[in-house]
Amino acid sequence: MIDKEKPFLRVHNISKTFPGVQALDDVSLSVYPGEIHGLIGENGAGKSTLVKILSGALDPTEGEVVLGDHSFSSLNPTQAQANGVSTVYQEQELIPGLNIAENIYLGEEPRKYNMLVNHEKMIRDANNLIRDYGLERDAGEVLADLPIAERQQVAIIKAAHRGSRILLLDEPTASLTASQIDSLFDLIRELSNQGMGVVYISHNLEEVLDIAGKITVLRDGQKVGTFEKKKVTKPDLVEHMAGHEVQTRGSNKKHEHGKILLEVEDALGSVSFTLREKEILGIAGTMGSGARKILRGISGIDPLAEGSLKFRGEEYIPENVQDSVSRGIFFIPEDMRGEGLVLPMPLAKNITLPKISETLSRGFIDLKKEKSFAEDHVESLGIATPDVDTAVRYLSGGNQRKVLFAKALHADADLLLLEDPTQGVDVNARQEIHELFEELRKQGKSLIVLSSDLDELLDVSDRIISLYHGELSGEFDPAEIDRQVLISSILGEKTEYV
Ligand SMILES: Nc1ncnc2c1ncn2[C@@H]1O[C@H](COP(=O)(O)OP(=O)(O)OP(=O)(O)O)[C@@H](O)[C@H]1O
Ligand SMILES: [Mg+2]
Repeated sequence: MIDKEKPFLRVHNISKTFPGVQALDDVSLSVYPGEIHGLIGENGAGKSTLVKILSGALDPTEGEVVLGDHSFSSLNPTQAQANGVSTVYQEQELIPGLNIAENIYLGEEPRKYNMLVNHEKMIRDANNLIRDYGLERDAGEVLADLPIAERQQVAIIKAAHRGSRILLLDEPTASLTASQIDSLFDLIRELSNQGMGVVYISHNLEEVLDIAGKITVLRDGQKVGTFEKKKVTKPDLVEHMAGHEVQTRGSNKKHEHGKILLEVEDALGSVSFTLREKEILGIAGTMGSGARKILRGISGIDPLAEGSLKFRGEEYIPENVQDSVSRGIFFIPEDMRGEGLVLPMPLAKNITLPKISETLSRGFIDLKKEKSFAEDHVESLGIATPDVDTAVRYLSGGNQRKVLFAKALHADADLLLLEDPTQGVDVNARQEIHELFEELRKQGKSLIVLSSDLDELLDVSDRIISLYHGELSGEFDPAEIDRQVLISSILGEKTEYV
């Protein structure tokens, strides 16, 4: 029987130092069976570091981790798993080429006569298991054919099946749609009812307040406190995270725009719109709306399937990314680690890379110049890093995103194309990035912001267009509408409020 009165996971006085950074400083917390424990904090607060220590991926510098009756001053991943800890980093531990059942039973397949794998039984058992957890799939389906959200569910079901007692989820909803988040939450609640303890990290405080019973706030590697969900509000949490009150921007002042900068005609067959200088255009749409395709077409990453573009009045067919960058168009992708940043390279090189000509002198990279450019950007964007020689991979998620903005600034782009620009970014940094949009506008730049976060679009855009199944479904003045109007529109209802 699970003893609900006794914490299964206890973290005692954990500290972790990296060269030049104290990532965690004397942090303690407990998680009881069945408890969903939110873990929040600004970018770089130490959340992922704590998860890595609990999952055995990193050793703490000091302190210990207690799992059930066993205490560890360092853990390896096998020990962590054997003692009931499962970590789900999206699809990570699964094998895309195997089917759902094979993934779940990997290493413990039911066998016939103790020899051959009993495939029928395995599929049958797996079907029962996944249906129990609300995943409507056939266990014979190959994992690679499932959307990321469902692969993640398979990973979580596998953890439950393995008898894990603690599930660590580090920003699990970062790339999920609203309905996928609902399914994930149902699954998490089901596991919690069965006695699983869950550590849940997210920058979305509404989500955390929805799912968690207790919430621990980290700031600069230190624990600010653990709070009962019922006794805190979102503004309280924000204040705890930041250490001071955070102002949210009063939105939608009217702005003066300049000349037409970009004209898109009949993209995807029928989508046409224009963008002026100093204008921030928001694009809303669900997955499959075509919004991403259009953005990627303008940026030269993928060919624009149909239609034509004019940039500064000139007909323009982007050949590749470099072509667009040289014209002053800069794309900041959602998947910054895969597409935008060179993780093992120092910050300074990442920033100056797209406009390397500026740092060359007589054919060689002038390291002093490179450093001073980079330091200026680090300073102006408030990027938290020990120095500009640090490899980007060591920065926290939010700071990595700021490096991308520094790249765009350095490339002196006139048009920035942004895909989910504050994904994985904390409230404070989100505010800073939104302020940065205004700063860029003042400098005469134009922005197209594609975001799955509708509040963000309503906050930052001068105008919003929405797409549904490859067609324009609406055009709005954000001051005139609310979230609900936008939701109907991205779901295909034709409306216009301009
Ligand atoms: N391997 C590493 N080497 C050096 N510094 C590191 C390493 N891993 C993390 N850090 C630093 O430790 C601090 C905490 O990072 P961590 O990734 O835990 O933050 P986080 O709270 O998860 O932030 P985010 O919300 O941005 O994901 C940051 O300053 C980060 O730069
Ligand atoms: Mg993190």
